[in-house]
Amino acid sequence: MWADETTDAPERGGHAMKVIAVATQKGGVGKTSTTVNLAAGLALAGARVLTVDLDPQAQAGTAVGVNLAGEEQLARSLGWVLQARMQGMRMDLSSLWFDRSELLEEWEDAGTLHLLACEESTMTAAQDLIHKKGFQSTPILRRMLMEVSDSFDFVVVDTPPAVSSLSATALAAADYVITVCVPEYPALKGAAATRGTVRYVKDRTGGECEPQYLGAVLNRSNPPSRWKAQEVNIRNGMLDADLAPFCTDIRTDNRISDSFAYGVPSVIRFASHTPGKMYSELMGQLVERMGQPAEKWEMPERIDLEGSGG
Ligand SMILES: Nc1ncnc2c1ncn2[C@@H]1O[C@H](COP(=O)(O)OP(=O)(O)OP(=O)(O)O)[C@@H](O)[C@H]1O
Ligand SMILES: [Mg+2]
Repeated sequence: MWADETTDAPERGGHAMKVIAVATQKGGVGKTSTTVNLAAGLALAGARVLTVDLDPQAQAGTAVGVNLAGEEQLARSLGWVLQARMQGMRMDLSSLWFDRSELLEEWEDAGTLHLLACEESTMTAAQDLIHKKGFQSTPILRRMLMEVSDSFDFVVVDTPPAVSSLSATALAAADYVITVCVPEYPALKGAAATRGTVRYVKDRTGGECEPQYLGAVLNRSNPPSRWKAQEVNIRNGMLDADLAPFCTDIRTDNRISDSFAYGVPSVIRFASHTPGKMYSELMGQLVERMGQPAEKWEMPERIDLEGSGG
């Protein structure tokens, strides 16, 4: 089953730009934190990265210092762009995205970091429009991104929690999907549901879109000395549910949450500290998996509950 999904990696669809969607049905588990830190981390490492904020909560924008307000700014909302595009207007995305590369200016070999921002009312209207038109309209974002595929190495898409036409649009846009889990049972269910949904995207888009599932990030994890039975069960459950967890998980760290307030992702603010190191390691595994068939992916060992003290 895995093999079928990976045969045409690494250059899916004949373009070098890779679109990664970060998705899970469960809210508040760290999709946005994962999105912006992976995007910024890839940019620090030299890549040209576009972050796409597809969640009406617009938190990915906040996390990189962009908050849309006022009429002129609303015209730059992805929500407005999606609506216009569905009504047949051609949009030049390069006049809409925000260049946030100034966040990288202290790094000599850094790439670039851009953001397609969004805002709630325009995004909700876009969501309704896509919903009305059904699954055949979900490739809209992918088509728009393909037009700018020369400008970026990676696109990282933040998605809303829960099942909606916007999360379907994000999955349809993606070459790769990663999901996020925390050490709590509802989060495991949410991640598994998203992993399942990825399998249907090809059929639902008439073969146009074919995202590959790439793995699950365990976020807000604890050091092994503090694992309780629930965390051990979730870690094993991620393996059992075919979620292909990454070997590096992201520990609970206040520097990750505090960074939202500064509009600078923690991977940049704390590049040489734990947040920077955790996300860089995760990024390495993510990129490595893109070039490998799933059978070769390195995964964490199962944990023996007896020995865990939980
Ligand atoms: N590893 C972490 N350590 C500490 N705080 C974290 C960590 N990951 C996320 N948080 C915090 O948890 C909260 C939820 O994270 P985040 O916004 O990334 O989740 P989300 O899945 O995008 O939420 P939503 O479903 O609402 O979009 C935020 O306040 C964030 O700063
Ligand atoms: Mg979010």
